[in-house]
Amino acid sequence: MEVKVALVTGGSSGIGAATARLLADAGVKVYAGSRRGTFEPARKDVIPLKMDVNDAAALEAAVQEILSREGRLDAVVCNAGNGIYGPVEGTTEEEARYQFETNYFGVLKTIQACLPVFRKQQFGRIITITSVMAILELPFQGFYSSVKAALLSLTESLALELKGTGIQCCSILPGDVSTGFTSARKLNEAATREDSPYKEWMQKNLKQVEKDELGGMSPDVIAKAVLKQLKKKKMAMRVIPRLDYKLVAVLVRLFPAKSRLALIKLLY
Ligand SMILES: NC(=O)c1ccc[n+]([C@@H]2O[C@H](COP(=O)([O-])OP(=O)(O)OC[C@H]3O[C@@H](n4cnc5c(N)ncnc54)[C@H](OP(=O)(O)O)[C@@H]3O)[C@@H](O)[C@H]2O)c1
Repeated sequence: MEVKVALVTGGSSGIGAATARLLADAGVKVYAGSRRGTFEPARKDVIPLKMDVNDAAALEAAVQEILSREGRLDAVVCNAGNGIYGPVEGTTEEEARYQFETNYFGVLKTIQACLPVFRKQQFGRIITITSVMAILELPFQGFYSSVKAALLSLTESLALELKGTGIQCCSILPGDVSTGFTSARKLNEAATREDSPYKEWMQKNLKQVEKDELGGMSPDVIAKAVLKQLKKKKMAMRVIPRLDYKLVAVLVRLFPAKSRLALIKLLY
């Protein structure tokens, strides 16, 4: 594998930690960035970095530290992220911006910190962790769907712009994964209002969403998808792990929007 050194953001938990572990098992030196700055269980080939993806200076310092220690950076897995929950109606602009801060601008800052290195090397791999929700909207997660759709578009536009430079982009769209994501989810103020017209629907819906996530696949499945792409000469553009989610993606494309939304409403 050409990738010898990688930065994984959100490496302290869930998909990021599983990815860091699997890449290291495959012989990659991994830098696992997160605000906690921890990686457990500790191992020599995974170096935890304390950094916030919303802090451009911290990202720059992280990239410089990797370069000074390794002399190269071959891949970045933009994985750090979070979710908010609540109806579009009543969600404040501040809450909506919070969703875009880490999941969109944090990824943008991460990519922009790595790109000069990749350009100089004429080699680099950029993987963004988006979600099947980038192509499949669910009620009360409109901002999460929006931000993942925006990130998917950004990844694909970037891939176009970088064609022929030796730098490749790929987005991985996981379905439900059992991680710390569920407990870290923030409820918007409008989601907790006693007089909300959506109150009963949201209570039922959130229970189902949490059950689906906690009963979802292991983060190792996503880690394997990341490793598989990094091993390839040419990475795929979009990867949807697991056959059932691949089928969902096909159905999403086949159904006209109106019937798709009617079906989602029935299910959720
Ligand atoms: N779980 C799912 O069902 C699922 C499905 C589709 C896509 N995803 C996506 O997968 C990615 C990873 O989520 P996960 O499921 O593994 O959740 P998780 O267990 O909560 O992990 C999230 C990671 O992101 C880090 N993080 C959050 N904000 C950060 C920031 N500002 N700067 C640096 N690191 C930050 C967290 O570490 P610190 O708190 O230490 O900073 C943690 O390591 C996210 O982008 C999520 O949207 C998850």
